[in-house]
Amino acid sequence: MPFLTRSAVILVSFGFVSANAVVLSGAPDANSCPGYKATSVKETASGLAAELRLAGAPCNIYGRDLESLKLQVTYDSNSRIHVKITDPDEKRYQVPEEVFPRPDSKAVGSAKSSDIAFTYTASPFGFAITRPTTGEKLFDTTGNALVFESQYLRLKTSLPTDPNIYGLGEHTDSFRLPNVNHTRTLWSRDSYGIPQNSNLYGNHPIYFDHRKSGTHGAFLLNSNGMDIKLETVNGRSSLEYNVIGGVLDLYFFAGPEPVAVAKQYAEVVGLPAMMPYWGLGFHQCRYGYRDWIDVAEAIANYSITEIPLETMWTDIDYMYNRWAFTLDPEQFPLDKVREIVDYLHEHNQRYIVMVDPATAYQNYPTFNHGKEDGIWLKEADGSIHKGVVWPGVTAFPDWFHPNTGPFWTGEFVEFFSADAGVDIDGVWIDMNEPASFCNYPCKDPEADAVKQKMPPQRLPVRELPRSTPGFPGTGNAIATAQSAERRVRKRQKGGSIDLISPPYAIANDMPLGLSDRTVHTNIVHYGGLSEYDTHNLYGTMMSDITYEAMLTRRPELRPLIITRSTFAGAGKRVGKWLGDNFRWSISGMLGFASIYQIPMVGSDVCGFGGNTTETLCARWASLGAFNPFFRNHNGDTSISQEFYLWPLVASSARKSIDIRYRLLDYIYTAMHRQSVDGTPLLNPLFFKYPKDTNTYPIDTQFIYGDALLVSPVIEENSTSVEVYLPKDTLYDFHTSKKIEGEGKNVTLTDIPFDEIPLHILGGNILPFRSSSARTTTELRTRPFTIVVALDERGEASGSLYIDDGVSIQQKGVIDVTMEFKHGRLSIKGKFGFKSEKGDASVKIESVKVLGRRRSGEGHGEGEEEVVEKKVDVELVGDVEFEV
Ligand code: GLC
Repeated sequence: MPFLTRSAVILVSFGFVSANAVVLSGAPDANSCPGYKATSVKETASGLAAELRLAGAPCNIYGRDLESLKLQVTYDSNSRIHVKITDPDEKRYQVPEEVFPRPDSKAVGSAKSSDIAFTYTASPFGFAITRPTTGEKLFDTTGNALVFESQYLRLKTSLPTDPNIYGLGEHTDSFRLPNVNHTRTLWSRDSYGIPQNSNLYGNHPIYFDHRKSGTHGAFLLNSNGMDIKLETVNGRSSLEYNVIGGVLDLYFFAGPEPVAVAKQYAEVVGLPAMMPYWGLGFHQCRYGYRDWIDVAEAIANYSITEIPLETMWTDIDYMYNRWAFTLDPEQFPLDKVREIVDYLHEHNQRYIVMVDPATAYQNYPTFNHGKEDGIWLKEADGSIHKGVVWPGVTAFPDWFHPNTGPFWTGEFVEFFSADAGVDIDGVWIDMNEPASFCNYPCKDPEADAVKQKMPPQRLPVRELPRSTPGFPGTGNAIATAQSAERRVRKRQKGGSIDLISPPYAIANDMPLGLSDRTVHTNIVHYGGLSEYDTHNLYGTMMSDITYEAMLTRRPELRPLIITRSTFAGAGKRVGKWLGDNFRWSISGMLGFASIYQIPMVGSDVCGFGGNTTETLCARWASLGAFNPFFRNHNGDTSISQEFYLWPLVASSARKSIDIRYRLLDYIYTAMHRQSVDGTPLLNPLFFKYPKDTNTYPIDTQFIYGDALLVSPVIEENSTSVEVYLPKDTLYDFHTSKKIEGEGKNVTLTDIPFDEIPLHILGGNILPFRSSSARTTTELRTRPFTIVVALDERGEASGSLYIDDGVSIQQKGVIDVTMEFKHGRLSIKGKFGFKSEKGDASVKIESVKVLGRRRSGEGHGEGEEEVVEKKVDVELVGDVEFEV
């Protein structure tokens, strides 16, 4: 069904023309600009420095051309070149070091030794990044004038025809980006319904350019708003950055394999944080649990229906009138919330709640503390900047203020106190684009809040006993739950700088410009940086400070923080969910896990907006089990969608959680590897088959870890799906049957609604827990079954990493590689971890070999069999044995 997005509705019904269209019609032509001339070029051992001087009369297309620029080129290593073009004294805004620490430059590379090389033409200045081994130009600005103005930067590179470009998110476009008349805008915004071809919550100006001859990457370290245009005219393709501030700070990665680019990018943005093991368990959430009873019922019902629930979540419903760091005394009284949390903890389950940055502009402790500490964003006249969010009129923390970290930590430590408060295990941070519901210019936030009914009227309190008999786990609870299913423009003129309506209008998908429904871009943060320059950093700065707050509460333990808005490098501390989606999920997830280095990612399973259906939710439950972050969540106006509410969905959830949990150490191992060297835990098919051109556009199938091809049915009510099977040895996950993939699409039919097509790729060894469990704590006591999926040579390899699952510093770990050759399995590596209780070691109880050729009488040639051997191997030292 075609999907009409909310913004499409707005455009159609009000006849707005998108900002992009305004720019295109009659837009000044950057190609008529004079460009620059390189002078005073100094070659150094590891790069080059030059002055760039305007090569003719200024064109001043969107402001004033800078007369002179500074060019610095550094061969950071043999696989990375750093090209930086700035104003001569570097006075212009650059992404602050505190937010984005710069990577070490070994400055060891050189044009001679490097895998990629920098070449340039002096006049007009143009540069190219080439791959000497193939002679290809990977990035080439020659012939496209560089434009560097006060509020507009333009850099354009030629690309091969019909290029394979991935990245430049957050977006819901196809994973392989369209390359004709396509604009990718980067500017954080609240994006309910997450329409396609629209800017969304996060910003990652990195792309991978994949060619059969090799892959490379380009990262523009810049937090200003930008349009990146992908175009093909007369068979010639190009990519053009149009940036409204900052400098051109580019990193090029040599690859040449896609995974190598991922690792090289991770060296610049930082390696992703290792998440707690329990974070990979199944999470249940919804917006609209109207009181603690609803929450208790959901916990009870998961238990009764035997669907493993690891973590229960509560949305803003728990707050008093949605004021941050408060509890609703009637609907979520402290004693009841603590009772729920205690119950969860006693059952090895966890609890997470939401915290938004925008805080109620009310006379109450959190707001007053912030005011005393001076941390709320301020207008030029010193008054507190106001917006409208869930609690009504709100103030926003200024993450640049030195008091904000201590303030935030103080609120966390007090409100989320284990002894007297809500003892959360992780935290969910949202609306941190930052979002506001007030349309620009938001002149009267008080009136706007009333108009928008924020906060909404409080729900009538239910007549309920203060202590609930039978909570949780009685038959009554489920019956109750099932029957209870409720089913412009103010311009700041500072010389020629306009922070509200810059001359080049990026295609922000909001009708009233950059400041529409967010903090106004002329707000100046502590230290003098403007919202205009730093807007895209807000979510990541909140993430970093929240990380510190969580660490202060529980020192030494890995915090689980899930955020909505991200900037490059956010994965160092947090995971990400894909926001208020209705349907797009796989390509978004692939972008975060395989390109942006934020592997803990997932979408709202069964969908956030609208009403799900039994079959859709059943399919999504089984796909969600293969999202690293696996959470069922939806909106307050949607029908309930807990997995236990429909038989088919419950069955799908049980089956897929069973598979996920048995494979949890396999995925934990992959996540650990990504946290150590950047190797993605999720892979698009072309990462594994880079020469197979059929794989380049595929974005509804993916490889989970190294070895599991996931091919979900994505059409509602369909029981078949066309999937691509690469030319490789594969095994049907459900039947262990060997299949020789032919590099063709095949149609899989009769797929039950509670099953997801999965294939194991030959040549891999996967550690399985011998059986699933109700919680990950219980799961960790299970022994392993090692599954060896042979390749055509009868060999396979894999790895296994085990630690205590929660500590930042580990005392001892199991970190082993497994190899299967000539009928023998060898396991080698580190064996420093003993199971939690210290009384039993980690054991392998069986080994299963898929694809072994049958021998002996009665078997036809080429028949394959599955051999399973019981063993009793303790993982305490290197072992090798025959299977
Ligand atoms: C935002 C979030 C959504 C949440 C809602 C209420 O829309 O994206 O997940 O339920 O706010 O807090």
